Amino acid sequence: MKDFDEVTSWSVLRRDGVAVVVAHPEVGLPLVLHWGADLGELSSADLQALDLATSRQTAPGTLDAAWRPSLLPQESDGWAGRPGLLVVSDGVPLYPRWTVTEAERATAELVVTARDSVLGLTLRSYLEIGPGGLVLLRHELTNDGSAVVDVHWLEAMLPVPRSADHLTQFTGRWSREKVPVTTAMPAGSTVRQTRRGRSGHDAPWVTLASSGTPRNRTGEVWATHLGWSADVTHRVDHLTEHATLLGAGELVRPGEIHLSPGESYRTPVAYFAWSPTGLDGVSDRFHAWMRARPQHVTSPRPLVLNTWEAVYFDHSPAKLERLARRAAAVGVERFVLDDGWFHSRRDDTTGLGDWVVDRDVWPEGLDPLAGLVHELGMQFGLWFEPEMVNLDSDLARAHPDWILSNTAAVPSPDGLSFRTQYVLNLANPDAWEHVRGQISALVTQLGIDFIKWDHNRDLAEPVHIGSDGVSRPGTHVQTLAAYALIARLKADHPGLEIESCSSGGGRTDLGILEVTDRVWASDSNDPLERQDIQRWTSLVLPPELIGAHVGPSPTHSSGRTTDLSYRVATALQGHAGFEWDLLACTEDELVAVAAYAAIYKELRSLVHTGTVVHADTVDPALRVTGFVSPDRTAGMWTVATVASPQDALTERVRLDGLDPALRYSVQVRDEVGTAKWLGGVTPGWLGKEAIDIPGSVLTGVGLQLPTLWPMQALIIQVTATTAAE
Ligand code: DGJ
Repeated sequence: MKDFDEVTSWSVLRRDGVAVVVAHPEVGLPLVLHWGADLGELSSADLQALDLATSRQTAPGTLDAAWRPSLLPQESDGWAGRPGLLVVSDGVPLYPRWTVTEAERATAELVVTARDSVLGLTLRSYLEIGPGGLVLLRHELTNDGSAVVDVHWLEAMLPVPRSADHLTQFTGRWSREKVPVTTAMPAGSTVRQTRRGRSGHDAPWVTLASSGTPRNRTGEVWATHLGWSADVTHRVDHLTEHATLLGAGELVRPGEIHLSPGESYRTPVAYFAWSPTGLDGVSDRFHAWMRARPQHVTSPRPLVLNTWEAVYFDHSPAKLERLARRAAAVGVERFVLDDGWFHSRRDDTTGLGDWVVDRDVWPEGLDPLAGLVHELGMQFGLWFEPEMVNLDSDLARAHPDWILSNTAAVPSPDGLSFRTQYVLNLANPDAWEHVRGQISALVTQLGIDFIKWDHNRDLAEPVHIGSDGVSRPGTHVQTLAAYALIARLKADHPGLEIESCSSGGGRTDLGILEVTDRVWASDSNDPLERQDIQRWTSLVLPPELIGAHVGPSPTHSSGRTTDLSYRVATALQGHAGFEWDLLACTEDELVAVAAYAAIYKELRSLVHTGTVVHADTVDPALRVTGFVSPDRTAGMWTVATVASPQDALTERVRLDGLDPALRYSVQVRDEVGTAKWLGGVTPGWLGKEAIDIPGSVLTGVGLQLPTLWPMQALIIQVTATTAAE
């Protein structure tokens, strides 16, 4: 009988309050005994004690193996849940028996190599605790044998305690991304899959296991996210006889990962965040890890004007030049020309694929506009949708075989269109080079500082012909080709920033963010809807990466009418800008938007480097979002209503994250407009002047809120008046 309990050595990974303890058994892959709180220095006696503390009986009615989760559980381990790996040869599943050949250890890293010499498979598993205590896990499978093998899936999982009794998954739709759905932890193996060829508006995004329903500031939460921008599987296995496993992996189609002898498949990185302090603790780990990346943007995030909702496809050089002047006058620092500038693009049915300036609309090209924008001291940005093609384009007419379709070799007028467009097969090197060349030439010619990189359709039945001449599912290679194209453009044009947009927030994962610099969170510019879309986007992404623009009222995407102060408070939560025809603003509005620009510039370094805090409110109408400087001497909160408050006496709101030992000056910033509340006596702290309040009161007692009207927001700024110790 296989002895799973014979531990021969240990690996203890520790960083930033998190530990992963791995036992290396006599037989098979390492076992993960613990992922969670740092347990301190552990002697070998301590590790043996941990081993005893977490071992279990062999329960009646189960396999004899006293199973504990390995780095990649399979049936051969006695695991009755969804296997971590399904690999098939000649139609028959393989059941590897792994022998570890090498374990490379560092303080917060473990790389394990294991082989099955009979099947001719090598597995390398990379486990790491990154900055902020975020755990990264990926696997790589190599075919060392003589037969071809097909990988059906290879996923990354970690154990969570059985006390995690709730599961939260995300769904959504266009203009309403990232809607959490919490249920009791379902029994058995649960998979959540997407097959859109992009993440999609209903992407699983993050899967959360929690003890009780997840709260913002308290309770234990375990989260996973996959850094992959296409089809994914999120999974949780909650079997009666095993530890609960949480994980994710790329969803591949049959035949898609087809390994000839010597070939390897490397999975995307699965990210895992454990938090003892609710959802904000999860965000802290993701934000700290992201901010520590070498490519993370650190320069002040420029105030943007994006032209989409200002002019849509109605491009007039004279008007856009006036708009650029107006934008510069109110303080805009980056002017982005959206869709509609390129060859024959008069609406959304034509032109995609022809990345040359339309001379009918722009007789002198874009050079005068780009020149003016630069002269006015702003950056110049331009919209592209490089992975797409319209049938009505020179590109599709010249190269119909470059269209990614279900028939692999012919254009796809019979295939499924989506916004009347098709997908360009970027895994075709000629197509890739064509797009790269056209974009690169414009970046050089116009001095483009920023690209809004859009992706407005799902992939359907994508088939790619490989170098071996065989047709196979094409999502995997398409996704890698898109990453490579973005990376190449950035390498060739140092300083170029790229935004990931996909009909709004349809592609915001950490895979695309390896090569991009921010996301367009949603095509909803409705501040009420944005409160929640941005909140859940920031579960993973720090605010400086989340595009949040002020638009006109009524909002184009929903028709809702809101006060400018509410729209501004919502945009201040991210990388702010305008999605607005400023030429249509009244004089009063222009004064207000200039005030907005000034407040944004004053507060952006706080918001873009601070810790994000969300109060747990009783009233479902309230959204309380704060940003606290790393040294806790400054903070900014937005208190927004998304409906009518439920009680006449609204609750007090605690300013979590401040230092109770300091005193703070508390001030409401109302330059852009004063929030409205039901009449009567106003809470004393809400006067015009800043008042001085001890941090212990702000964090322990809180500020009494007025009974705000629906869709109103207070911007509260706090600044320490005593020095930090
Ligand atoms: C979808 C994006 O989300 C919008 O912001 C805009 O860029 C349009 N595409 C342009 O077609």
